[in-house]
Amino acid sequence: MSAISAERERAVLDRVPKGVFVGGEWRKATGGATFAVEDPATGEALCDVADATPDDAVAALDAAHDTQASWAATPPRQRGEILRRAYELMTERADDLALLMTLEMGKPVAESKAEVTYAAEFLRWFAEEAVRIAGRWSANPSGDGRLLTMRQPVGPCLLITPWNFPTAMGTRKIGPAIAAGCTMVVKPAQLTPLSMLVLADVLREAGLPDGVLNVVPTSKAGDVMGPLFDDPRLRKVSFTGSTPVGKKLMEQASQHLLRVSMELGGNAPFLVFADADLDHAVDQAVVAKMRNMGESCVAANRFHVHESIADEFAARLAERMGAMTVGRGTEDGVHVGPLISEDQRGIVRDLVDDAVGKGAKVLTGGTDVGDRGYFYAPTVLGSVLPDADLLRNEIFGPVAPVATFADDDEAVRTANDSEFGLVAYVFTRDLTRALSVAEALEVGMLGLNRGMVSNPAAPFGGVKESGFGREGGAEGIDEYLAVKYVAVDV
Ligand code: SIN
Repeated sequence: MSAISAERERAVLDRVPKGVFVGGEWRKATGGATFAVEDPATGEALCDVADATPDDAVAALDAAHDTQASWAATPPRQRGEILRRAYELMTERADDLALLMTLEMGKPVAESKAEVTYAAEFLRWFAEEAVRIAGRWSANPSGDGRLLTMRQPVGPCLLITPWNFPTAMGTRKIGPAIAAGCTMVVKPAQLTPLSMLVLADVLREAGLPDGVLNVVPTSKAGDVMGPLFDDPRLRKVSFTGSTPVGKKLMEQASQHLLRVSMELGGNAPFLVFADADLDHAVDQAVVAKMRNMGESCVAANRFHVHESIADEFAARLAERMGAMTVGRGTEDGVHVGPLISEDQRGIVRDLVDDAVGKGAKVLTGGTDVGDRGYFYAPTVLGSVLPDADLLRNEIFGPVAPVATFADDDEAVRTANDSEFGLVAYVFTRDLTRALSVAEALEVGMLGLNRGMVSNPAAPFGGVKESGFGREGGAEGIDEYLAVKYVAVDV
């Protein structure tokens, strides 16, 4: 049963500005084209949004470029206070922002609300970092003169955000860019532009000067962003999304040698050693797998469990995941919303079918749910063999494959046998083992007896083909700052 009335849904949708945001103004796209945004729970259109053209993108870069010098000269405290006001506005409006996110992205409202809180926290964090951009003054080791370093904004940025966390992946880039004194053009995901459009309005209301933030929703990302990469005024690109797209953007970014931050795909191993607290490991497995319906680059993608406890772990996980309620995210008691699209559901279904064809056992799930929308049942597969494609490919869905290992060496070798290196989860009560495994794993982040690492105060990012650069934490603002060194003759 729906806890939220159709009138309230409509009211939230009606309040979204649906244009291109350039130089502080909401405009129609050049030529007036629009594209439809869909509810993945029903497959029906929610509303239409301006479909930006390459001309709109260039106008957005014009605005960002024209505002760069004055924004860089704005006192850091003032930049921080705008972020702080935006944090407060987001917090006040969290219920509406969460409902909007659920409508366009599908996750249950409680999860959307958690994302709004997570997203707002990036603004609060970077409000506090804006006033701590320090340089250095030191003596030349030879005694001959002094060395001065300063950190300055890199300049206009292109920020490309994904559909899975449509607000938090925005604030994780926009927050540090604003704090550092950079202007920006934001290209939100075609599937979930509404959350970003509302966020732009919140930042405008919080006092962000016209031209600092510009937003170009579009259904033709390649065409629209092309002219920006050709334009030497653009100085940085930050992207969250798939590794293949990230590689293409890297090629485009090489044209003018842009600063680049890439948060790309993952294939997170979740390792459970024989001495782990099994109840806790199962609890955290549910978090690591089912947050965002598994549509997260930090979702546990493969469970490698010591052979002595693998059957027990898989059975308990299947019991927990099999008991989760699947439904439209606006409904009471729903734990698992739809996947984002039929294409995504097809990818998940194919990976499950492949594993089952190669001998895996379905312990729960393994099927589509319902006859409209893109629902897929929480699924646990036992006895998954090493040649199953889902041990190598990012699933991005509510599917937990359980495989076994015989000893610590095999656990680490198997975990590292991936081109990705974003995050790993390790469950053991043995501190020596925990630290030696943590050192040996090729990842940018690690959850030790925890199924969740995401935290605005921590540096989020990967190694290998999961990308580079760090978002959040004290490190996050560095992505938007260039170091200048001055040799001083004193
Ligand atoms: C992602 O899936 O891209 C990010 C998830 C997070 O920040 O927790």
